[in-house]
Amino acid sequence: MRDNFLCVGIHLETPNVIAFSNFLIHPPHVTLIIMKISTKMKKALNDQVALEAAASNSYLAMASWCEVTGYQGSANYFYAQSDEERTHMLKVVHYLNDMAATATIPSIKAPTSSYKSLEALIKTALKNEQIVTKAIHKMVEIAQKEKDHSTYAFLEWFVNEQVQEETKFETILQKFDLIGRDKLAINEIDKILAADTTASDDATA
Ligand code: FEO
Repeated sequence: MRDNFLCVGIHLETPNVIAFSNFLIHPPHVTLIIMKISTKMKKALNDQVALEAAASNSYLAMASWCEVTGYQGSANYFYAQSDEERTHMLKVVHYLNDMAATATIPSIKAPTSSYKSLEALIKTALKNEQIVTKAIHKMVEIAQKEKDHSTYAFLEWFVNEQVQEETKFETILQKFDLIGRDKLAINEIDKILAADTTASDDATA
């Protein structure tokens, strides 16, 4: 009978390790789950989950704006980008859970849904990526300071990914200077983004 069980909670804390266990006595057994990262790193990673989720949502809103504005190539590009950000978010969620740190799934603020131009939209995307890069670098510094080799290795992929993401948007922004900002030029840039989406799809197929 459930009433015969005695519930006991243990909370142990060391500078880098928190152990928490709820276990039942009768029959006697203990489940001890040790968190493998620090509380500080757990918070930083959970903040990253929120950042990646916000990026996914923001790119979804950008894709939708492009679609209704008639920039179909850019819409496809940002729909794919939104999916990519969701996979980044999931990577962090799985990592936190693997480290017995339990991911927190955040609520997301509504993103900006309208833009002055395609160029303004790409500038916002680049700014978002720069914010993400800063957050990743901050986590790398925490991992180095705490000698958290697992998280350091995990973050390596994100560091490289951010270099690519920023370069991608910087290159698109250069196109406005090179090709122009009139309707024909924007149509050309939209085609470039469409080709970029197809190339990425082929690479991941
Ligand atoms: Fe996952 Fe583009 O930040």
